[in-house]
Amino acid sequence: MADQLISTAVHRELPGSYVRPESQRPRLDEVVPDAQIPVVDLAGPDVVSRIGQACATHGFFQVVNHGVPLELMAAMLAVAYDFFRLPPEEKAKLYSDDPAKKMRLSTSFNVRKETVRNWRDYLRLHCHPLEQYVPDWPTNPPSFRDTVSAYCREVRELGFRLYAAISESLGLARDYAEKALGEQEQHMAVNFYPECPAPELTYGLPAHTDPNALTILLMDQQVAGLQVLNQGRWIAVNPRPNALVVNIGDQLQALSNGRYRSVWHRAVVNSDMPRMSVASFLCPCNDVLIGPAASLVTEESPAVYRDYTYAEYYTKFWSRNLDQEHCLELFRTTS
Ligand code: OGA
Ligand code: NI
Repeated sequence: MADQLISTAVHRELPGSYVRPESQRPRLDEVVPDAQIPVVDLAGPDVVSRIGQACATHGFFQVVNHGVPLELMAAMLAVAYDFFRLPPEEKAKLYSDDPAKKMRLSTSFNVRKETVRNWRDYLRLHCHPLEQYVPDWPTNPPSFRDTVSAYCREVRELGFRLYAAISESLGLARDYAEKALGEQEQHMAVNFYPECPAPELTYGLPAHTDPNALTILLMDQQVAGLQVLNQGRWIAVNPRPNALVVNIGDQLQALSNGRYRSVWHRAVVNSDMPRMSVASFLCPCNDVLIGPAASLVTEESPAVYRDYTYAEYYTKFWSRNLDQEHCLELFRTTS
């Protein structure tokens, strides 16, 4: 129900349904504050090897000179803030907790399944092909459809450029990933994390890996919140001017036969300021068979995962809790 949205009320105390048991709390004082994830200048030298290195060591990197116009990034964040400032009745019309819906405003992660809530509201949109989905998108704020469509187009192009570099870095043809993943769907999550009265007791999003192939994240420039697991420690990914954050999803881990890593990450919240992030997910076509690329399977490195369809994978992903074991573990070869 729409009254579950947290962005429609002011909260002076954290409701009990958001409080994590002691052992699951974020332990914010143990997070590495000033670690760096790799930064790749897409207009600079050695792009392919730098991306390959980042995918293998961190599963995350930031890109600059990425071709997405900076004013469009700013406009996207601005319209996202305007959207979440709409009056409650306006937002209520868009609310749904059915993950099968192609346009919905929701809260937490999966309110039908989870036992503890997360301090996040989110708008989820299907974005490709645009002509098919835009007619169902919000009409308010008035610039929403134009701004978000333009942003989606640019991000998709960037995604395909990244696929080419990632494929090449694995020794595959530059169009390998794009072809192997079929006609790509594209989804967007506009994540809004309001100020939280007790950030040390809860999450915006608990630790998870992304089930899709590649994620491009536009982060609030003022407020940090994304953290990535690296060598057993949580490291903070601080916003970098003009950069976009890229991460490998489960499907590229499978395709690379485990060489590239879809790593655990989470969003934490804070008591001072709201935070916005806009995640664009490139997702394989539902019925294409996904598995390790043939040339990456050798006697010394046998296939780590079996072949499966994304439809099968996605159903499994949404039937679990976010912070259970890595979903790909369920698709390991048994031999
Ligand atoms: C996501 C995600 C991180 C963030 O939407 O999958 O990991 O910082 N978001 O909002
Ligand atoms: Ni994620």
